Amino acid sequence: MTGLEGKVAIVTGGARGIGAAIADRLANAGASVVVGDLNDPGSDVYFHELDVTSEASIAAFFAAVLRDHGGLDVLVNNAGIMFEEHIEEHATESWNAMVAVNLTGPFLMTKHATPLLRQRGRGAIVNVSSIEAFACNPNHAAYAATKAGVMGLTAATAVDLGPIGVRCNAVAPGWIDTELNASYVDAHPDRDEVIAQLSKLHPVGHIGDTSDVGDVVAWLAGDESSFVTGQTITIDGGRTTRPSLPPIMGY
Ligand SMILES: NC(=O)c1ccc[n+]([C@@H]2O[C@H](COP(=O)([O-])OP(=O)(O)OC[C@H]3O[C@@H](n4cnc5c(N)ncnc54)[C@H](O)[C@@H]3O)[C@@H](O)[C@H]2O)c1
Repeated sequence: MTGLEGKVAIVTGGARGIGAAIADRLANAGASVVVGDLNDPGSDVYFHELDVTSEASIAAFFAAVLRDHGGLDVLVNNAGIMFEEHIEEHATESWNAMVAVNLTGPFLMTKHATPLLRQRGRGAIVNVSSIEAFACNPNHAAYAATKAGVMGLTAATAVDLGPIGVRCNAVAPGWIDTELNASYVDAHPDRDEVIAQLSKLHPVGHIGDTSDVGDVVAWLAGDESSFVTGQTITIDGGRTTRPSLPPIMGY
C-alpha cells in the first residue's frame, strides 16, 4: 500500500522518457495520472497539452485538471531540456530558454498547484533535478545551473508548503537511457563500446533505466515517505559516489 490509490497525479513532460515511466509507475500504484506535455504521447493515458514556460498554458491546464479530476494530490515536475554551449559563447536566448523550462516551469507549476493541494490539506511535489546539480559535464552551464536551482526550489517549497501538509522532494538522476541523451551515444560509431565504458563508471556496473527513477518518485509521492521533505535523492548507480582514478592505475 503506497497511499497513491485514487490520488490525482500530474506528470509534466510525461509523454516520453523518464516522465512516461513515472506516469506508468504512478498509474500502476492506483493513481489517476494526468500527463502535461507539448506532445500527445498517443497512449491511453489522460493527456492535456501543456507548455510549462507559459503561465496562460499552465492556467488552462490546471482548469482542465480541476474540471476533469476534481482536485490534485501529486505534482511531478519532470519536463526538462538540455543542450550544450560553452560558457564563453553561450547565447543569452538559449540560457533563458533552458531556465524557462527547467527552473521557471517547476516554479510556476508549483505556484498554480498550491491552491488545489491546499484544498486537499495534504499533497506531495516531486521535482526532477539531476546529478549535474552537484557536478557537471563540459558545456553544461545553463543545465547545471537550472538543476542546482531545482534543488533550491525544492527546499524552499518544502519550507513554505509544509504547514499546509504538502511535502516537496527532488530526485537527481544520473545517466538514464532516454532519447534526451541517446543522441550523444548514437553519434559515436561504436554505440556498444560507449555503453560499456559508461557502465564502467557506475559501481553497480550499468547505466540507469527510466523505471529506476519512476520507483523512487512513486515512493516520494506516496505515504511511505511521509516524514521526508526538502530532500534531493540521487539515483545514479553510485556514479557520483566514486571519484575517478586514471585507468593506468588499473581500477
Ligand atoms: N535522461 C537522463 O539521463 C537524465 C538525467 C538526469 C535528469 N534528467 C531530467 O529528467 C527529465 C526528463 O528527461 P528525459 O531524459 O526523459 O527527457 P526527454 O527529452 O526524453 O523528455 C522530456 C519531455 O519533456 C517535454 N517537454 C519539453 N519542454 C516542455 C515544455 N516547455 N512544456 C511541457 N513539456 C515539455 C518533452 O516534450 C518530452 O516529452 C528532465 O528534467 C531531465 O533534465 C534526465
